[in-house]
Amino acid sequence: MSKIVVFGSVNVDYVAQVERLPGPGETIKTDHYEALPGGKGANQALAAARNAARTSMVGAIGSDGLEAVSLRQLSADGVDVAAVKTRDGASGLAMIAVDAKGENQIVVVSGANASAAASDVPLLATSDALVTQNEISWSQTAAAHAAAKQTGSTVIHNAAPAHALNGAELANIDILVVNEHELTMAAPASADASDGEKANSLLGLGVGAVVLTLGAEGACLYRAGADPISVAAVPTAVVDTTGAGDAFVGALAAAIAAGEDLAAGVATANAYAARVCGVMGAQTTLPG
Ligand code: RIB
Repeated sequence: MSKIVVFGSVNVDYVAQVERLPGPGETIKTDHYEALPGGKGANQALAAARNAARTSMVGAIGSDGLEAVSLRQLSADGVDVAAVKTRDGASGLAMIAVDAKGENQIVVVSGANASAAASDVPLLATSDALVTQNEISWSQTAAAHAAAKQTGSTVIHNAAPAHALNGAELANIDILVVNEHELTMAAPASADASDGEKANSLLGLGVGAVVLTLGAEGACLYRAGADPISVAAVPTAVVDTTGAGDAFVGALAAAIAAGEDLAAGVATANAYAARVCGVMGAQTTLPG
């Protein structure tokens, strides 16, 4: 069985279902509310485990007793959470509004995620892939990438929430997963360049491959010296898009760690992300 380490955020998601998302300064009322496990790192770890990878989660939660929510689904699905440290203070929280079309607005409060440390990342030498995102300290994430490169573990970075990357940091990333906004933030190319030009500017600085997720349009895979490959989306009835990008990343990592070709892995990830869009919450049990 392939082995994946996910280094990243663990949150409790406070999810309110609303008819429509509020505008600036507006208050919206609803009776539908749930506290659910979330966090981009944890969501990706769950997706990797549900796609048959032996998965370890590395990160931090607070001392506020919320682990009964934040870690419950990871534990239920067999993700190793021994390297999730408990620090004094609050856990990471996400305030999420989901509208009737499944679109969301999210505010993330970092809490304990801000203390997640690369020194807690265990034994990358025995891992097939390291998966990271951008909800914990970037310096710690970059340190984990450098360590993973030393051991030959494949580095998969999801630049979400969007952030700028410099040349030296890019060279440690084997597969960069971004949406269009994240691509614009990450790429040194100008903001009005085409997606292909932006992806090529990243490949030129050492990124192994760029996977651009395009929502209902599917995804596009860019590699140096090769034509882009478009992968169609799987049509789905959308209930909630929260965590769909994370599901994509986790499923892609599982496919790559299992030896699947990158283009085939993107197709697998597209199909899995579509299923996640069909249920409320980022870590909800999926229909079979
Ligand atoms: O990508 C979705 C996730 O973003 C949510 O689970 C929330 O915790 C925020 O981190």
